[in-house]
Amino acid sequence: MTRLADIGAAVIGSGFIGTVHVEALRRLGVRVAGVLGSSAERGAARAADLGLARGYAGLAELLADDAVQVVHVTSPNELHHPQVKEILAAGRHVVCEKPLAMTSAESGELVQLARASGLVHAVNFNLRFYPLNQHVTELVRHGGIGEVRLATGHYFQDWLLHDTDWNWRLEKDRGGALRAVGDIGSHWLDLMTTLTGRRVEAVMAELTTFIPVRHKPAGPVETFSTRRAAETIPIRIETEDTATILLRFEGGGRGSVAISQLSPGRKNSLTYQVDGSTAAVAWDSERPEQLWIGRRDEPNQLLIRNPALMNAAGRAAARLPGGHVEGFADTFGAAFSAIYADVLAGGPSSSPAYATFEDGHEEMLVGDAVLASSHSGRWVEVARPATTAGADRGPGREVPAR
Ligand SMILES: NC(=O)c1ccc[n+]([C@@H]2O[C@H](COP(=O)([O-])OP(=O)(O)OC[C@H]3O[C@@H](n4cnc5c(N)ncnc54)[C@H](O)[C@@H]3O)[C@@H](O)[C@H]2O)c1
Repeated sequence: MTRLADIGAAVIGSGFIGTVHVEALRRLGVRVAGVLGSSAERGAARAADLGLARGYAGLAELLADDAVQVVHVTSPNELHHPQVKEILAAGRHVVCEKPLAMTSAESGELVQLARASGLVHAVNFNLRFYPLNQHVTELVRHGGIGEVRLATGHYFQDWLLHDTDWNWRLEKDRGGALRAVGDIGSHWLDLMTTLTGRRVEAVMAELTTFIPVRHKPAGPVETFSTRRAAETIPIRIETEDTATILLRFEGGGRGSVAISQLSPGRKNSLTYQVDGSTAAVAWDSERPEQLWIGRRDEPNQLLIRNPALMNAAGRAAARLPGGHVEGFADTFGAAFSAIYADVLAGGPSSSPAYATFEDGHEEMLVGDAVLASSHSGRWVEVARPATTAGADRGPGREVPAR
Protein backbone atom coordinates (compact mmCIF):
# COMPACT_ATOMS: atom_id res chain seq x y z
CA MET A 1 0.00 0.00 0.00
CA THR A 2 1.40 3.37 -0.88
CA ARG A 3 -1.44 5.84 -0.56
CA LEU A 4 -4.17 6.46 2.02
CA ALA A 5 -6.75 5.89 -0.72
CA ASP A 6 -5.48 2.29 -0.98
CA ILE A 7 -6.43 1.61 2.65
CA GLY A 8 -9.86 0.40 3.68
CA ALA A 9 -11.26 1.01 7.19
CA ALA A 10 -14.40 -0.06 9.01
CA VAL A 11 -15.91 1.55 12.10
CA ILE A 12 -17.59 -0.33 14.95
CA GLY A 13 -20.24 1.87 16.57
CA SER A 14 -21.98 4.67 14.77
CA GLY A 15 -23.05 6.84 17.68
CA PHE A 16 -21.60 10.21 18.72
CA ILE A 17 -17.94 9.46 18.16
CA GLY A 18 -18.19 6.72 15.52
CA THR A 19 -19.63 9.30 13.16
CA VAL A 20 -16.70 11.64 13.87
CA HIS A 21 -14.30 8.77 13.02
CA VAL A 22 -16.06 8.17 9.68
CA GLU A 23 -15.93 11.86 8.76
CA ALA A 24 -12.25 12.23 9.73
CA LEU A 25 -11.26 9.13 7.74
CA ARG A 26 -13.05 10.47 4.69
CA ARG A 27 -11.26 13.81 4.98
CA LEU A 28 -7.95 11.94 4.96
CA GLY A 29 -8.95 10.03 1.86
CA VAL A 30 -9.13 6.60 3.53
CA ARG A 31 -11.87 4.39 2.04
CA VAL A 32 -14.50 3.69 4.70
CA ALA A 33 -15.90 0.29 3.75
CA GLY A 34 -18.73 0.21 6.28
CA VAL A 35 -19.96 0.33 9.86
CA LEU A 36 -21.05 -2.19 12.45
CA GLY A 37 -23.91 -1.13 14.74
CA SER A 38 -25.59 -2.67 17.76
CA SER A 39 -27.81 -4.70 15.40
CA ALA A 40 -27.81 -5.56 11.70
CA GLU A 41 -30.75 -3.18 11.17
CA ARG A 42 -29.10 -0.29 13.02
CA GLY A 43 -25.81 -0.84 11.14
CA ALA A 44 -27.61 -0.87 7.79
CA ALA A 45 -29.56 2.28 8.65
CA ARG A 46 -26.45 4.17 9.79
CA ALA A 47 -24.49 3.01 6.72
CA ALA A 48 -27.28 4.39 4.53
CA ASP A 49 -27.32 7.71 6.47
CA LEU A 50 -23.56 8.07 6.09
CA GLY A 51 -23.50 6.99 2.43
CA LEU A 52 -21.40 3.88 3.15
CA ALA A 53 -21.57 0.71 1.09
CA ARG A 54 -21.95 -1.73 3.96
CA GLY A 55 -23.69 -2.05 7.31
CA TYR A 56 -22.21 -5.28 8.64
CA ALA A 57 -24.47 -7.80 10.38
CA GLY A 58 -21.76 -8.77 12.89
CA LEU A 59 -18.04 -8.57 13.67
CA ALA A 60 -17.36 -11.88 11.89
CA GLU A 61 -18.86 -10.47 8.69
CA LEU A 62 -16.80 -7.27 9.05
CA LEU A 63 -13.58 -9.25 9.56
CA ALA A 64 -14.38 -11.41 6.53
CA ASP A 65 -14.34 -8.27 4.35
CA ASP A 66 -10.98 -8.19 2.52
CA ALA A 67 -11.50 -4.51 1.77
CA VAL A 68 -10.84 -3.71 5.47
CA GLN A 69 -7.28 -3.34 6.78
CA VAL A 70 -7.99 -1.11 9.80
CA VAL A 71 -10.84 -1.36 12.29
CA HIS A 72 -11.92 1.54 14.52
CA VAL A 73 -13.63 0.53 17.78
CA THR A 74 -16.12 3.17 19.01
CA SER A 75 -18.59 0.90 20.80
CA PRO A 76 -19.39 1.23 24.54
CA ASN A 77 -16.42 0.48 26.81
CA GLU A 78 -17.33 -3.09 27.80
CA LEU A 79 -17.04 -4.19 24.17
CA HIS A 80 -13.53 -2.81 23.52
CA HIS A 81 -11.60 -5.78 24.94
CA PRO A 82 -13.50 -8.63 23.23
CA GLN A 83 -13.77 -6.75 19.93
CA VAL A 84 -10.09 -5.71 19.84
CA LYS A 85 -9.03 -9.30 20.56
CA GLU A 86 -11.01 -10.55 17.58
CA ILE A 87 -9.70 -7.78 15.34
CA LEU A 88 -6.05 -8.49 16.19
CA ALA A 89 -6.63 -12.24 15.76
CA ALA A 90 -7.97 -11.48 12.28
CA GLY A 91 -4.75 -9.57 11.43
CA ARG A 92 -6.22 -6.07 11.21
CA HIS A 93 -4.69 -2.83 12.50
CA VAL A 94 -6.82 -1.32 15.25
CA VAL A 95 -7.73 2.13 16.52
CA CYS A 96 -9.63 1.81 19.79
CA GLU A 97 -11.49 4.54 21.63
CA LYS A 98 -10.54 5.32 25.21
CA PRO A 99 -10.66 3.76 27.73
CA LEU A 100 -8.83 0.84 26.11
CA ALA A 101 -10.65 -1.70 28.31
CA MET A 102 -12.73 -2.13 31.47
CA THR A 103 -9.80 -3.25 33.68
CA SER A 104 -6.01 -3.11 33.61
CA ALA A 105 -5.91 -6.91 33.38
CA GLU A 106 -7.81 -6.63 30.08
CA SER A 107 -5.74 -3.71 28.78
CA GLY A 108 -2.49 -5.52 29.76
CA GLU A 109 -3.59 -8.54 27.76
CA LEU A 110 -4.35 -6.32 24.76
CA VAL A 111 -0.86 -4.78 24.97
CA GLN A 112 0.70 -8.23 24.78
CA LEU A 113 -1.53 -9.36 21.93
CA ALA A 114 -0.91 -6.16 19.99
CA ARG A 115 2.87 -6.36 20.44
CA ALA A 116 2.90 -10.00 19.33
CA SER A 117 0.79 -9.18 16.26
CA GLY A 118 3.14 -6.58 14.74
CA LEU A 119 0.02 -4.62 13.82
CA VAL A 120 -0.59 -0.90 14.41
CA HIS A 121 -2.41 -0.39 17.73
CA ALA A 122 -3.71 3.03 18.73
CA VAL A 123 -5.92 4.47 21.43
CA ASN A 124 -7.81 7.60 20.50
CA PHE A 125 -6.49 10.12 23.00
CA ASN A 126 -7.22 12.70 20.35
CA LEU A 127 -6.80 15.78 22.59
CA ARG A 128 -3.04 15.42 22.19
CA PHE A 129 -3.58 16.45 18.60
CA TYR A 130 -4.86 19.97 19.05
CA PRO A 131 -2.06 21.75 17.19
CA LEU A 132 -1.20 23.92 20.20
CA ASN A 133 -0.89 20.80 22.39
CA GLN A 134 1.51 19.30 19.87
CA HIS A 135 3.40 22.62 19.92
CA VAL A 136 3.60 22.51 23.73
CA THR A 137 4.80 18.89 23.68
CA GLU A 138 7.75 19.81 21.49
CA LEU A 139 8.35 23.09 23.34
CA VAL A 140 8.59 21.33 26.73
CA ARG A 141 10.73 18.50 25.31
CA HIS A 142 13.26 21.07 24.11
CA GLY A 143 13.39 22.86 27.45
CA GLY A 144 11.16 25.77 26.39
CA ILE A 145 9.63 26.17 29.86
CA GLY A 146 12.64 24.92 31.82
CA GLU A 147 12.22 22.15 34.38
CA VAL A 148 8.58 21.02 34.70
CA ARG A 149 7.31 21.66 38.24
CA LEU A 150 3.54 21.90 38.51
CA ALA A 151 0.69 20.66 36.27
CA THR A 152 -2.79 21.74 37.32
CA GLY A 153 -6.19 21.91 35.71
CA HIS A 154 -9.64 20.48 35.32
CA TYR A 155 -11.89 18.56 32.99
CA PHE A 156 -15.49 19.72 33.48
CA GLN A 157 -18.71 18.83 31.66
CA ASP A 158 -22.36 19.39 32.66
CA TRP A 159 -24.27 16.84 30.60
CA LEU A 160 -24.91 14.52 33.62
CA LEU A 161 -26.03 17.35 35.97
CA HIS A 162 -29.66 16.25 36.39
CA ASP A 163 -30.81 13.01 37.99
CA THR A 164 -32.81 12.41 34.79
CA ASP A 165 -29.67 12.54 32.60
CA TRP A 166 -28.83 9.02 31.49
CA ASN A 167 -26.19 7.23 29.43
CA TRP A 168 -24.66 3.73 29.32
CA ARG A 169 -21.53 5.23 30.94
CA LEU A 170 -23.46 5.42 34.25
CA GLU A 171 -23.73 1.63 34.40
CA LYS A 172 -20.61 0.17 35.99
CA ASP A 173 -20.73 -3.03 33.93
CA ARG A 174 -20.89 -1.04 30.66
CA GLY A 175 -18.61 1.93 31.40
CA GLY A 176 -16.20 0.61 34.05
CA ALA A 177 -15.58 1.08 37.78
CA LEU A 178 -14.38 4.66 37.18
CA ARG A 179 -16.74 6.92 35.28
CA ALA A 180 -15.74 10.61 35.27
CA VAL A 181 -12.07 9.68 35.66
CA GLY A 182 -12.18 6.93 33.01
CA ASP A 183 -14.32 8.87 30.57
CA ILE A 184 -12.76 12.33 30.64
CA GLY A 185 -10.09 12.37 33.35
CA SER A 186 -8.11 9.84 31.33
CA HIS A 187 -7.81 12.44 28.54
CA TRP A 188 -6.37 15.02 30.97
CA LEU A 189 -3.93 12.54 32.49
CA ASP A 190 -2.78 11.27 29.09
CA LEU A 191 -2.35 14.86 27.95
CA MET A 192 -0.24 15.81 30.98
CA THR A 193 2.02 12.80 30.50
CA THR A 194 2.36 13.68 26.82
CA LEU A 195 3.07 17.39 27.41
CA THR A 196 5.48 16.93 30.29
CA GLY A 197 7.06 13.66 29.16
CA ARG A 198 6.52 12.43 32.75
CA ARG A 199 4.32 9.58 33.94
CA VAL A 200 2.20 9.82 37.07
CA GLU A 201 4.08 8.23 39.95
CA ALA A 202 1.47 8.40 42.74
CA VAL A 203 -2.00 9.77 43.41
CA MET A 204 -4.17 10.87 46.32
CA ALA A 205 -7.77 10.82 45.12
CA GLU A 206 -11.26 11.55 46.36
CA LEU A 207 -14.23 10.32 44.30
CA THR A 208 -17.74 11.61 44.98
CA THR A 209 -21.16 10.53 43.80
CA PHE A 210 -23.43 13.53 44.33
CA ILE A 211 -26.42 11.88 42.62
CA PRO A 212 -26.78 8.42 44.20
CA VAL A 213 -30.00 7.52 42.35
CA ARG A 214 -30.76 8.37 38.73
CA HIS A 215 -33.87 7.85 36.64
CA LYS A 216 -33.07 5.61 33.70
CA PRO A 217 -35.37 6.01 30.68
CA ALA A 218 -37.23 2.85 29.72
CA GLY A 219 -35.95 3.24 26.07
CA PRO A 220 -32.49 3.93 24.50
CA VAL A 221 -30.69 7.29 24.88
CA GLU A 222 -28.10 9.05 22.72
CA THR A 223 -24.88 10.47 24.21
CA PHE A 224 -25.24 14.19 25.13
CA SER A 225 -29.01 13.99 24.56
CA THR A 226 -31.04 16.46 26.68
CA ARG A 227 -34.44 14.86 26.01
CA ARG A 228 -36.42 13.75 29.08
CA ALA A 229 -38.05 10.31 28.98
CA ALA A 230 -41.67 9.88 30.10
CA GLU A 231 -41.07 6.46 31.66
CA THR A 232 -38.05 5.90 33.91
CA ILE A 233 -36.65 3.33 36.34
CA PRO A 234 -34.70 4.46 39.49
CA ILE A 235 -31.12 3.12 39.43
CA ARG A 236 -28.51 3.31 42.23
CA ILE A 237 -25.28 4.84 40.91
CA GLU A 238 -21.97 3.27 41.94
CA THR A 239 -19.53 5.45 39.99
CA GLU A 240 -18.19 8.95 40.65
CA ASP A 241 -19.71 12.20 39.40
CA THR A 242 -16.58 14.11 40.39
CA ALA A 243 -12.96 13.46 41.31
CA THR A 244 -10.28 15.58 42.96
CA ILE A 245 -6.81 14.15 42.56
CA LEU A 246 -3.37 15.20 43.82
CA LEU A 247 -0.54 13.97 41.62
CA ARG A 248 3.17 13.22 41.88
CA PHE A 249 4.94 12.95 38.55
CA GLU A 250 8.18 11.12 37.87
CA GLY A 251 11.13 13.46 38.13
CA GLY A 252 9.68 15.44 41.03
CA GLY A 253 6.81 17.29 39.34
CA ARG A 254 3.58 17.85 41.24
CA GLY A 255 0.01 18.43 40.14
CA SER A 256 -3.69 18.41 40.81
CA VAL A 257 -6.80 17.95 38.73
CA ALA A 258 -10.54 18.28 39.32
CA ILE A 259 -12.84 16.23 37.13
CA SER A 260 -16.60 16.63 36.97
CA GLN A 261 -19.56 15.71 34.81
CA LEU A 262 -21.81 17.98 36.90
CA SER A 263 -20.32 21.46 36.38
CA PRO A 264 -23.16 23.76 35.22
CA GLY A 265 -22.25 25.65 32.07
CA ARG A 266 -19.04 23.78 31.34
CA LYS A 267 -19.88 21.76 28.24
CA ASN A 268 -16.49 20.24 27.53
CA SER A 269 -13.82 22.24 29.29
CA LEU A 270 -10.37 20.73 29.70
CA THR A 271 -7.88 23.23 31.09
CA TYR A 272 -4.27 22.93 32.11
CA GLN A 273 -1.43 25.08 33.29
CA VAL A 274 2.05 23.63 33.29
CA ASP A 275 4.54 25.70 35.29
CA GLY A 276 8.20 25.27 34.49
CA SER A 277 11.25 26.91 36.02
CA THR A 278 11.47 29.55 33.25
CA ALA A 279 7.95 29.80 31.77
CA ALA A 280 4.41 28.46 32.02
CA VAL A 281 1.85 27.38 29.42
CA ALA A 282 -1.94 27.34 29.83
CA TRP A 283 -4.72 26.16 27.51
CA ASP A 284 -8.51 25.62 27.56
CA SER A 285 -10.24 23.21 25.18
CA GLU A 286 -13.19 25.61 24.89
CA ARG A 287 -10.72 28.19 23.45
CA PRO A 288 -8.44 25.76 21.65
CA GLU A 289 -6.87 28.30 19.30
CA GLN A 290 -5.13 30.19 22.13
CA LEU A 291 -2.06 29.24 24.13
CA TRP A 292 -1.09 31.47 27.06
CA ILE A 293 2.62 31.62 27.73
CA GLY A 294 3.52 33.10 31.10
CA ARG A 295 6.88 34.68 32.01
CA ARG A 296 8.19 36.30 35.13
CA ASP A 297 10.57 38.94 33.74
CA GLU A 298 9.04 39.83 30.39
CA PRO A 299 5.49 40.29 29.07
CA ASN A 300 3.28 37.22 28.78
CA GLN A 301 2.29 36.03 25.30
CA LEU A 302 -0.87 34.73 23.66
CA LEU A 303 -0.03 32.42 20.76
CA ILE A 304 -2.95 32.04 18.35
CA ARG A 305 -2.75 28.70 16.50
CA ASN A 306 -0.88 29.47 13.30
CA PRO A 307 1.32 27.08 11.31
CA ALA A 308 3.64 30.00 10.56
CA LEU A 309 4.27 30.60 14.28
CA MET A 310 4.30 27.07 15.72
CA ASN A 311 7.11 24.53 15.88
CA ALA A 312 7.26 21.48 13.57
CA ALA A 313 5.00 19.31 15.75
CA GLY A 314 2.36 22.03 15.94
CA ARG A 315 2.55 22.62 12.20
CA ALA A 316 2.17 18.91 11.46
CA ALA A 317 -1.13 18.79 13.38
CA ALA A 318 -2.57 21.96 11.81
CA ARG A 319 -4.58 21.98 8.60
CA LEU A 320 -5.59 25.58 8.11
CA PRO A 321 -3.83 28.95 8.23
CA GLY A 322 -4.09 31.00 11.43
CA GLY A 323 -7.46 32.60 12.11
CA HIS A 324 -9.33 29.82 10.29
CA VAL A 325 -10.60 28.12 13.40
CA GLU A 326 -9.88 24.43 13.96
CA GLY A 327 -11.54 22.36 16.67
CA PHE A 328 -12.42 19.01 18.22
CA ALA A 329 -13.24 17.13 15.01
CA ASP A 330 -9.97 18.27 13.41
CA THR A 331 -7.95 16.52 16.13
CA PHE A 332 -9.22 13.20 14.78
CA GLY A 333 -7.78 14.02 11.36
CA ALA A 334 -4.41 14.90 12.88
CA ALA A 335 -4.37 11.77 15.08
CA PHE A 336 -5.40 9.53 12.20
CA SER A 337 -2.73 11.08 9.93
CA ALA A 338 -0.07 9.95 12.42
CA ILE A 339 -1.68 6.51 12.90
CA TYR A 340 -2.18 5.86 9.20
CA ALA A 341 1.44 6.80 8.42
CA ASP A 342 2.29 3.67 10.44
CA VAL A 343 -0.44 1.67 8.71
CA LEU A 344 1.11 2.66 5.36
CA ALA A 345 4.52 1.61 6.71
CA GLY A 346 3.01 -1.76 7.69
CA GLY A 347 3.55 -1.58 11.47
CA PRO A 348 4.09 0.60 14.54
CA SER A 349 6.96 3.11 14.60
CA SER A 350 9.26 3.29 17.63
CA SER A 351 7.87 6.34 19.48
CA PRO A 352 4.77 7.56 17.72
CA ALA A 353 3.03 10.85 18.57
CA TYR A 354 -0.30 9.03 18.83
CA ALA A 355 -1.31 7.01 21.90
CA THR A 356 -0.59 3.30 21.62
CA PHE A 357 -2.08 0.42 23.59
CA GLU A 358 0.80 0.92 26.05
CA ASP A 359 -0.49 4.45 26.67
CA GLY A 360 -4.08 3.19 26.97
CA HIS A 361 -2.89 0.58 29.49
CA GLU A 362 -0.94 3.25 31.37
CA GLU A 363 -4.14 5.23 31.99
CA MET A 364 -5.85 2.05 33.25
CA LEU A 365 -2.99 1.59 35.75
CA VAL A 366 -3.28 5.20 36.91
CA GLY A 367 -7.03 4.58 37.23
CA ASP A 368 -6.35 1.57 39.49
CA ALA A 369 -4.26 3.78 41.77
CA VAL A 370 -7.00 6.46 41.80
CA LEU A 371 -9.60 3.88 42.80
CA ALA A 372 -7.36 2.34 45.48
CA SER A 373 -6.52 5.77 46.92
CA SER A 374 -10.19 6.77 47.02
CA HIS A 375 -10.90 3.65 49.09
CA SER A 376 -7.95 3.97 51.48
CA GLY A 377 -7.81 7.76 51.76
CA ARG A 378 -4.03 7.58 51.25
CA TRP A 379 -1.42 8.24 48.61
CA VAL A 380 -1.08 5.22 46.27
CA GLU A 381 1.78 4.59 43.86
CA VAL A 382 0.93 3.61 40.28
CA ALA A 383 1.90 -0.07 40.08
CA ARG A 384 3.63 -1.04 36.85
CA PRO A 385 4.39 -4.76 36.99
CA ALA A 386 7.14 -6.11 34.74
CA THR A 387 4.47 -8.17 33.03
CA THR A 388 1.88 -6.02 31.31
CA ALA A 389 -0.78 -8.68 31.86
CA GLY A 390 -1.80 -7.02 35.11
CA ALA A 391 -3.75 -10.07 36.29
CA ASP A 392 -1.32 -10.87 39.10
CA ARG A 393 -1.11 -7.28 40.25
CA GLY A 394 -2.61 -5.73 43.35
CA PRO A 395 -4.25 -2.30 43.38
CA GLY A 396 -0.99 -0.46 44.09
CA ARG A 397 1.18 0.19 47.11
CA GLU A 398 0.35 2.84 49.68
CA VAL A 399 3.14 5.37 50.10
CA PRO A 400 3.87 7.57 53.08
CA ALA A 401 3.11 11.31 52.92
CA ARG A 402 6.13 13.40 51.98
N1 LIG B 1 -11.95 10.43 22.08
C1 LIG B 1 -13.02 11.13 22.41
O1 LIG B 1 -12.97 12.33 22.48
C2 LIG B 1 -14.32 10.41 22.71
C3 LIG B 1 -15.51 11.13 22.78
C4 LIG B 1 -16.69 10.44 23.02
C5 LIG B 1 -16.68 9.07 23.22
N2 LIG B 1 -15.51 8.39 23.18
C6 LIG B 1 -15.48 6.93 23.40
O2 LIG B 1 -16.13 6.31 22.29
C7 LIG B 1 -16.91 5.21 22.71
C8 LIG B 1 -18.36 5.44 22.28
O3 LIG B 1 -18.88 6.59 22.90
P1 LIG B 1 -20.08 7.43 22.24
O4 LIG B 1 -20.17 8.68 23.02
O5 LIG B 1 -19.93 7.51 20.78
O6 LIG B 1 -21.31 6.48 22.61
P2 LIG B 1 -22.67 6.33 21.83
O7 LIG B 1 -23.61 5.66 22.78
O8 LIG B 1 -23.07 7.62 21.20
O9 LIG B 1 -22.30 5.31 20.64
C9 LIG B 1 -21.97 3.96 20.86
C10 LIG B 1 -22.34 3.19 19.61
O10 LIG B 1 -21.99 1.82 19.77
C11 LIG B 1 -23.04 1.04 19.20
N3 LIG B 1 -23.02 -0.31 19.75
C12 LIG B 1 -23.61 -0.77 20.89
N4 LIG B 1 -23.41 -2.10 21.00
C13 LIG B 1 -22.69 -2.48 19.90
C14 LIG B 1 -22.21 -3.73 19.43
N5 LIG B 1 -22.42 -4.85 20.11
N6 LIG B 1 -21.51 -3.75 18.28
C15 LIG B 1 -21.29 -2.62 17.58
N7 LIG B 1 -21.76 -1.42 17.97
C16 LIG B 1 -22.46 -1.35 19.11
C17 LIG B 1 -24.31 1.82 19.52
O11 LIG B 1 -25.37 1.47 18.66
C18 LIG B 1 -23.84 3.25 19.29
O12 LIG B 1 -23.97 3.58 17.91
C19 LIG B 1 -16.71 5.11 24.23
O13 LIG B 1 -15.72 4.16 24.50
C20 LIG B 1 -16.23 6.49 24.63
O14 LIG B 1 -15.40 6.48 25.77
C21 LIG B 1 -14.34 9.04 22.93
